[in-house]
Amino acid sequence: MPENARLEPLEERHFQNIYRWVNDPDLRMQIGTVRPISQAENAEYQRSAAQDRHRIHLAVVDAHDGRHVGMIGLNNIDFVYRRADIWLYVGDATARRRHIGRSAASQLLDYAFGTLGLHRVRAEVFAFNEAALRFFAALGMKEEGRQREAAFKLGRFWDVVAFAILDREWFERRDLEAPRLPHVALEPLADEVIRANREFHARLAGEYFQSQPYGSAENRGRVRAILEEMAGHAGGGRLLDVGCGTGFVLDLAHDLFRELHGVDICPEMIARVTPRQNVRVCLAPVEHLPFGNGCFDAVTAYGVLHHIYDLTVALREIRRVLRRGGLFYADESPNLDFRENARRHRAAGTLGSLGGKEIISVTEDVRRYGERHGLEPAIVERAMFQDKIRGGLAVEALEAALANAGFVGIAVTPRWFAGQGTILRTQGAEAVARTEQYLRDVLPLSRGLFKYLVVRAVAGN
Ligand SMILES: CC(C)(COP(=O)(O)OP(=O)(O)OC[C@H]1O[C@@H](n2cnc3c(N)ncnc32)[C@H](O)[C@@H]1OP(=O)(O)O)[C@@H](O)C(=O)NCCC(=O)NCCS
Repeated sequence: MPENARLEPLEERHFQNIYRWVNDPDLRMQIGTVRPISQAENAEYQRSAAQDRHRIHLAVVDAHDGRHVGMIGLNNIDFVYRRADIWLYVGDATARRRHIGRSAASQLLDYAFGTLGLHRVRAEVFAFNEAALRFFAALGMKEEGRQREAAFKLGRFWDVVAFAILDREWFERRDLEAPRLPHVALEPLADEVIRANREFHARLAGEYFQSQPYGSAENRGRVRAILEEMAGHAGGGRLLDVGCGTGFVLDLAHDLFRELHGVDICPEMIARVTPRQNVRVCLAPVEHLPFGNGCFDAVTAYGVLHHIYDLTVALREIRRVLRRGGLFYADESPNLDFRENARRHRAAGTLGSLGGKEIISVTEDVRRYGERHGLEPAIVERAMFQDKIRGGLAVEALEAALANAGFVGIAVTPRWFAGQGTILRTQGAEAVARTEQYLRDVLPLSRGLFKYLVVRAVAGN
């Protein structure tokens, strides 16, 4: 069903309407604003909301004619208890009773539960506000109680009525399958790996792009070319990016596929995904994807496989949601051969300057993450389970796990050789290409020199 409202990020051009609405005595009576406010106060308030990660203010626009007709938002967003308060008003009275409020609130609840990963959203309504009482009840929110005589309006005290809705109730209502973050683990360690990853990525969320080398222009160009090729094969259909983080793949692929979905287990990460018309994100672990069988043409997993506890379970789940012949691409997975090389030579104390730097980059990363983000080594190790605890991803083991999960046309290729960054900076792209070609020609002898593995596979019958 087409939406009657569109939610837009708040900009300065919306301020004048808001100023007019919140100073309208009738509207002010229904919402929390107590006294008239100045233009400057209003602008200051809206700007401070934009800076505050515990609040979201959005402009409500009539989807049919593009007019700005109201405001909606979440206050008191609490990422620990995973709850928030919703509020809204359709300031333009001529736009009321046209299901604009319902459409706006529904989209915001989708975002609150599906993207931010909240568990509970609450609303408070003055007991005299019949329209809002009916509105929140019609939205499926449950009346939970009354704060007796909690507000003074129109010369007397009024009760304040509290409504709330839980994520599972909302998903059921919207006929969506709730993201099933496993509350009870299949195995205690699996749950711990998921918990460690949530903590690890929550700490990294704010500076993910700056801290990760994969954001470089060169790497973006390389990944974009792979995604273009996949989109060509898939006819630009539906793509799922598992472990989407802050949206690296979704950003690069958003104009290549008709519909893109991202899942991640870290609300702080997915809250940073750029909102787009054709991109949906939700909170879900790769082991339990909230999608039906065969509904994607392509699945991507960038820098994800080494964070997973049981690769076989994850790859089977990925295969399940891919249509037959659908494409799987995984990248930035640490190569076991390189890690073993690094560990062996570090132990032997045989560190040359360039090689030494490369070795330290992989053997010291637990300590580095710990110092930089205040994380316990045990958390970092668990978060990078396949790398730090299992020792890395081996080509043959990955090939076997993929075949086992029902993939065919499997290619696991190494990439990014030790010293590539330095050669690129000092001698240029041509020298990199020549060296890389040589190292590829002597594979598998040179396998221990490449840091990462790239996976390409096709969903079999
Ligand atoms: C409450 C408010 C946001 C509703 O927005 P809206 O776009 O007019 O509401 P919708 O058209 O989406 O209505 C959805 C449902 O809510 C109920 N509803 C909304 N307004 C109603 C009214 N005036 N009387 C009775 N029921 C009403 C109805 O069940 C309606 O479904 P229906 O039209 O199929 O019967 C709007 O009236 C408003 O801005 N009021 C002032 C501000 C306010 O009170 N905000 C809430 C406090 S945070």
